[in-house]
Amino acid sequence: MRLQLFLQASMAFFATSASALVEKRSLSTSAQSLFDYAMSINDPRFDESYKFVIYPDTGPWSVRFTACLACQQTDSYNSVWYGTWKLSPDEPTPTPDSPLYPPSIYNTYDPNWREFIGTQLVQIVEEFPDLIGEDLIAKIITAMEIQAVGAMRRNGTNGDNLVTAYTNPGLMRALTVGWTGARTNNQTLIDYANTKAAEITQLFKDGPNAFSEYNALTYYGMDIWALGANIKYGPKNATMTLDSPFLLTEMWADIAEHYNAYLGNFVGPYDRANSRDLTQHSAALPLWFWGMFGYENAPEPNKLELDLLYDATQGSALALLVSTIEEHINATTKAKLQTPPTATEERFLNKTIRESLYNDTIRTATSWMSQKLMIGGEELAEEVARSGQFVPAIVHWAADASHLPFPYNGFFSLYPSATTITAVATKNKLEISYPNITQAGTSSFQFMLSNIPPTWNLAGNVVDGFSTLPCLNASVLAPGLELQPTTYGDTIYDHIYYNITYAVPANFTGIPKITFDLEYTC
Ligand SMILES: *[C@@H]1O[C@H](CO)[C@@H](O)[C@H](O)[C@H]1NC(C)=O
Ligand SMILES: *[C@@H]1O[C@H](CO)[C@@H](O)[C@H](O)[C@H]1NC(C)=O
Ligand SMILES: *[C@@H]1O[C@H](CO)[C@@H](O)[C@H](O)[C@H]1NC(C)=O
Ligand SMILES: *[C@@H]1O[C@H](CO)[C@@H](O)[C@H](O)[C@H]1NC(C)=O
Ligand SMILES: *[C@@H]1O[C@H](CO)[C@@H](O)[C@H](O)[C@H]1NC(C)=O
Ligand SMILES: *[C@@H]1O[C@H](CO)[C@@H](O)[C@H](O)[C@H]1NC(C)=O
Ligand SMILES: *[C@@H]1O[C@H](CO)[C@@H](O)[C@H](O)[C@H]1NC(C)=O
Ligand SMILES: *[C@@H]1O[C@H](CO)[C@@H](O)[C@H](O)[C@H]1NC(C)=O
Ligand SMILES: *[C@@H]1O[C@H](CO)[C@@H](O)[C@H](O)[C@H]1NC(C)=O
Ligand SMILES: *[C@@H]1O[C@H](CO)[C@@H](O)[C@H](O)[C@H]1NC(C)=O
Repeated sequence: MRLQLFLQASMAFFATSASALVEKRSLSTSAQSLFDYAMSINDPRFDESYKFVIYPDTGPWSVRFTACLACQQTDSYNSVWYGTWKLSPDEPTPTPDSPLYPPSIYNTYDPNWREFIGTQLVQIVEEFPDLIGEDLIAKIITAMEIQAVGAMRRNGTNGDNLVTAYTNPGLMRALTVGWTGARTNNQTLIDYANTKAAEITQLFKDGPNAFSEYNALTYYGMDIWALGANIKYGPKNATMTLDSPFLLTEMWADIAEHYNAYLGNFVGPYDRANSRDLTQHSAALPLWFWGMFGYENAPEPNKLELDLLYDATQGSALALLVSTIEEHINATTKAKLQTPPTATEERFLNKTIRESLYNDTIRTATSWMSQKLMIGGEELAEEVARSGQFVPAIVHWAADASHLPFPYNGFFSLYPSATTITAVATKNKLEISYPNITQAGTSSFQFMLSNIPPTWNLAGNVVDGFSTLPCLNASVLAPGLELQPTTYGDTIYDHIYYNITYAVPANFTGIPKITFDLEYTC
């Protein structure tokens, strides 16, 4: 299981130097408010003894929000974790030869912490050289050379998964390796970063104009961080620095197409998402809305929501890039990001997503949006199950249109049990089938339904399949499939859900298919 890494390391540094920073920088009101909010989380967590931002997700200490140079793993040159950072300072080094702490990617070590922590270190060196001084800068550059060695070994083999399609660490690695190469005048690093950057841009263009980690509400936040950091801090003539403005502009144009400012959510499908309703649970992408347009105009939950307290830890780092990002969002896009769809507006999107420069594998994402109802579906043919972060089909609607500041978003999504799925969204319709019935996971369509408004429940209504829903007429056609009794109470990434499952009977022949005709009724 991949760690649910929403964040790159935010810095203990900020906790000690916030006032110096505020004096020195001039941020927009919105960016400043994001910065201040992040500091209101980081300051109380700061431990003076160890100079650590306390976070207890990996024992009493965690390196998640503190770039601790002494925590870098430098003792095993040939290991796959060489140069990455420990998850916590008090954990053992991975032990290949004993049961103490056997190496396990994303569990006992996280290869991407090179990139999360490395990009943060780049920002610190570039923004505050005078505050940290030459000795510390030299130490950081040595650490960056070490992480680059490990980072450059990663190519998707030997249990690793960093291929060009793995967008967020790919974009960050282009900066960490290229920047280190420029600082140390090492052509090997410079060339490597340029090659990787060119591959990322080419794959994006081949889509056309889609990152392979597509419509990913958490990791888009990190992609934007990486692109902004490449522009502001990358070597001036590095390929990633030169390509990032194009990538950012096009990415934001697509983000704006997916964003429904009335519902405060993005239409699906999502290649990776934890939160599926941003007005209830935070994700990283909306932090950029906050930094540009203010908290009140961003799809954010209340300020003490637990996922937000986690995500916004990095708000201090992001705030310093807000003006850079904003320069690369054009006027049409900016208007769309802030303007709700009109009552009669409709959008239909149909994107192909490429996986590799070296094969023709594609996925297709279709999305249909109206003001109060939106539907997304993805078509893919794969062999290995993606994680529960994958949302191949999802429907959002204004289940209590009078709820403010955003309507109460009812939503249901397909749990990705199958690996070959054809989910297609069109106007008022979602069609889902499992074309490869020989694959595991095709014996049921499992839907997770969440956010039924309190008033509807308190009025005595009870969810029973899709038969009665507030504000939505869902007529379901599922020939030959068997609707199971509805159950309530399990959760996925903090969303509690009704489980509405249609079983495919053992003697079913043909391609199992389920069709939803959806009509907004409030
Ligand atoms: C990936 O790296 C390994 C060595 O770490 C090498 O043997 C292999 O050929 C590389 N594969 C690709 C596709 O570059
Ligand atoms: C550049 O970095 C690589 C990887 O660390 C190293 O093997 C090589 O010796 C360095 N080259 C120079 C000229 O320092
Ligand atoms: C940028 O300039 C440096 C120094 O002239 C050079 O070593 C490097 O290869 C250049 N990078 C690119 C992408 O042109
Ligand atoms: C903004 O960028 C998008 C995507 O490239 C483009 O379709 C649109 O025409 C641009 N608008 C302006 C005002 O440049
Ligand atoms: C999406 O585009 C693909 C490729 O052009 C096409 O085959 C497919 O029918 C389109 N899907 C919809 C729902 O329009
Ligand atoms: C195409 O390449 C991607 C990325 O390496 C891989 O996940 C996918 O399985 C490949 N497709 C085929 C048909 O081999
Ligand atoms: C169906 O899935 C099986 C098992 O993953 C695979 O071997 C086969 O190629 C798939 N069939 C098609 C038509 O893709
Ligand atoms: C729901 O929609 C179906 C058609 O999709 C229609 O036959 C039915 O009358 C509608 N029910 C209500 C209560 O509007
Ligand atoms: C939904 O319920 C079914 C039993 O009907 C169960 O097998 C399945 O694991 C559940 N799915 C989810 C996503 O909770
Ligand atoms: C499958 O089996 C069930 C129960 O034995 C039976 O009711 C049903 O008619 C069968 N369906 C088909 C398509 O053979």
